[in-house]
Amino acid sequence: PRFWLIVPAAGIGQRMRAECPKQYLKLHNRFILDITLSRLLDNGQFDGCMVPLNPRDHWWPDSESARDERVQTCTGGAERADSVLAALDALDGQAADKDWVLVHDAARPCLHPHDLANLIDSLAEHPVGGLLAAPVADTLKQAGGEQPPSVELTVDRSRLWRALTPQMFRFGALRQALAECLADGQPVTDESSAMEFSGNMPVLVEGRPDNIKITVPSDLGLAEFILGRQ
Ligand code: C5P
Repeated sequence: PRFWLIVPAAGIGQRMRAECPKQYLKLHNRFILDITLSRLLDNGQFDGCMVPLNPRDHWWPDSESARDERVQTCTGGAERADSVLAALDALDGQAADKDWVLVHDAARPCLHPHDLANLIDSLAEHPVGGLLAAPVADTLKQAGGEQPPSVELTVDRSRLWRALTPQMFRFGALRQALAECLADGQPVTDESSAMEFSGNMPVLVEGRPDNIKITVPSDLGLAEFILGRQ
């Protein structure tokens, strides 16, 4: 099987309260999206890369990646899952059902090359696939319904993991799973949840907890620090 990359970048990054979507904010003077894409493509394993973009995106032409012939773009959708499905549809005819697709958030520029290589090595012979994930470090509280919130119970964290990306699944199975979930109105915030909904048990591959998703303004300084240290 061959390997394909999907990097959803069609979000508007509301929680960032910036004047442009977070993937176009700069770290060390480069677009976050360019850092993410170049680190992924440095792996050399991929046959192609599809980046779903927002229809109102006017920053892409200014990116380094727009001049990279390995990178193709398509129009994304209303939610992350719609954008990923649009990218899978756009790869139709290039990718085979048994090929692997790795989906990685544009907003996760700190993915360590060792984690990417380890994910691929760990899952290459697996029938379903899986995802990078990190064991939960904090004690977790479940709130009751009242305002202000108060603790209803402390959740047992010993079996809880944070889902990271990349998430790696077979092209045909992932496309079918996402299409079914979206048609069903199922909430899908990552590819794994779509695969779980269709009865699969994705593998958790332990990754570094510093593979952060840029979400709020304070994440920018943190990401520059992590990248500088790697
Ligand atoms: O908003 P959130 O942090 O969950 O977004 C995760 C990734 O999904 C980001 O890279 C964002 O650009 C992408 N996304 C997308 N299409 C959407 C919403 C988010 O491609 N409609």
